[in-house]
Amino acid sequence: MQSLIVGNWKMFKTVREAELFARRLVAELEIPPDREVVIAPAFPALYTVAAVLGGSAIKLAAQNVHDQVQGAFTGEVSAGMLIDAGCKYVIIGHSERRTFFGETDDIIRRKLSAALASGLRPILCIGETLAEREQGATLTVIAGQIKEGLKNINLGDIGSVSIAYEPVWAIGTGKTATPEQAQEVHAFIRSTMKDAYGKELAGKLRIIYGGSVNFGNIGKLMSEKDINGALVGGASLDIESFSEIVKYKEV
Ligand code: 13P
Repeated sequence: MQSLIVGNWKMFKTVREAELFARRLVAELEIPPDREVVIAPAFPALYTVAAVLGGSAIKLAAQNVHDQVQGAFTGEVSAGMLIDAGCKYVIIGHSERRTFFGETDDIIRRKLSAALASGLRPILCIGETLAEREQGATLTVIAGQIKEGLKNINLGDIGSVSIAYEPVWAIGTGKTATPEQAQEVHAFIRSTMKDAYGKELAGKLRIIYGGSVNFGNIGKLMSEKDINGALVGGASLDIESFSEIVKYKEV
């Protein structure tokens, strides 16, 4: 299985900044063969960055998608438009979308369906808040987000989904989950997926970790059995730190 390293740029970088960054990545980034690299710029930069990435090994993701094919939905972008702009992946259900934009598991499930119907590969984000962790509710929250997020998705499509475990308390806080904490949840995610969809699918599922990942902690996280990649926010905005992350060595 190739590990999946995704740079989520959130609401950073203008079109020009994104273009220059992508040019440097294409020219300088050394990607070991056992990993896949994806960057997720903001909507306005997608098409331009897609042109720069061209035939390179670096893939493009969007950070959000609407659940309808087209229509009077001011301010929204459809899965077909994202494919047309050059995206292969889409991040769905990020905790910032859940918290600031009221995205429920039901909305997330509809977005997942729409992405899959268009051939976009969803990266489904799940994770508990600090309060939920302190109440001992982490695994219940995770199980619920998986069950609700993937409800009624065709079995044949589930193989295109990756799951990102992002504990909300670790995002942008500098507080990473320890490799052991992350591994515990990742193993739980895999066993939940195994119970729901079978051993083969669960074995191939990429479960990536997000929350204050940097080049200092990625090697230890990646050495855990069920951690198959990283969803990187802040540390993906700088070319040197992102390059170091991509070249991680398990420790
Ligand atoms: P940080 O890496 O900045 O903590 O962000 C994580 C994240 O939310 C990636 O989607």
